Amino acid sequence: MIFNPLDLNNTAAYLHWREQKISAYEGNGYNQVVHIKKGVPDLHELKEISAACQAFNCCIYKLQSPYKGTKRFVKDLGLLLGLERLDGNLCSDEDNITSIQVMSEGRHAGYIPYTDRKLTWHTDGYYNPASKTIGAMILHCVRPAQTGGENLMLDHEMAYIQLRDKNPQFIKAFLQPDALTIPPNIENGKEIRGAQSGPVFSIDALSSALHMRFSARTRNIKWKEDALTLEAVEYMKSLLSSNNPYVFTYRMCAGEGIIANNVLHNRTAFTDSKVRDQQRLLYRARYYDRVKKPVS
Ligand SMILES: [Fe+2]
Repeated sequence: MIFNPLDLNNTAAYLHWREQKISAYEGNGYNQVVHIKKGVPDLHELKEISAACQAFNCCIYKLQSPYKGTKRFVKDLGLLLGLERLDGNLCSDEDNITSIQVMSEGRHAGYIPYTDRKLTWHTDGYYNPASKTIGAMILHCVRPAQTGGENLMLDHEMAYIQLRDKNPQFIKAFLQPDALTIPPNIENGKEIRGAQSGPVFSIDALSSALHMRFSARTRNIKWKEDALTLEAVEYMKSLLSSNNPYVFTYRMCAGEGIIANNVLHNRTAFTDSKVRDQQRLLYRARYYDRVKKPVS
């Protein structure tokens, strides 16, 4: 039975899909952590990663020593998983893969990802136009912080289920095309990105998979001022806690990474080394594609 998350009338299809999703979280043969033994994933490892992303929208990989991973590794890993269309943004390096580290000067310094402060819950690219919707991302850890810098993640499909189970009208509110508006980005008096309005939930045209656009921040974000939307936002925020059994916490070590179909995630604050070449460094690649489905 094909499930369309935008169709609130087909309860039978929803219940079938819901059961499958929950069943994966109860075990049933899926690994969310995949070991890559030889520096490049083999076919079996790729299949495991795809299967985990299919079940949980998120997978942790661990490169076996002595491999640590490079930008080239991140790019090749993406290609092997069907992730081809890299998103460039104002802060990416010239190869469109972003080095995330503390930056005290330049354009980066104005953005929280490049500080040691906590990053609130969001999905990537929630401020992008629909034509640049982020389907997936890879975060690769070159060096962790001295302490902190964990990632918490919540499969947005589980968030959908929790919202719909609480009140199906919350989904209806989040499907409105003006549910969430991000004001323009103005740098030195010049508008570098216009205001973006859009729904929270939408469907990826290529894969028919559910996409979520969300940020828990309270500044520079405008929710539609109707009672149901505001109630849905409050309930959504209440789900973003380590008390939620579907929230997954992981602190990446060097040579480890996260591959995700743009799940909800955050980052805790961290303490960095005083020595520049020992400070926290992640490579981040964002894609307009989603991780391809496992080949059976
Ligand atoms: Fe992010």
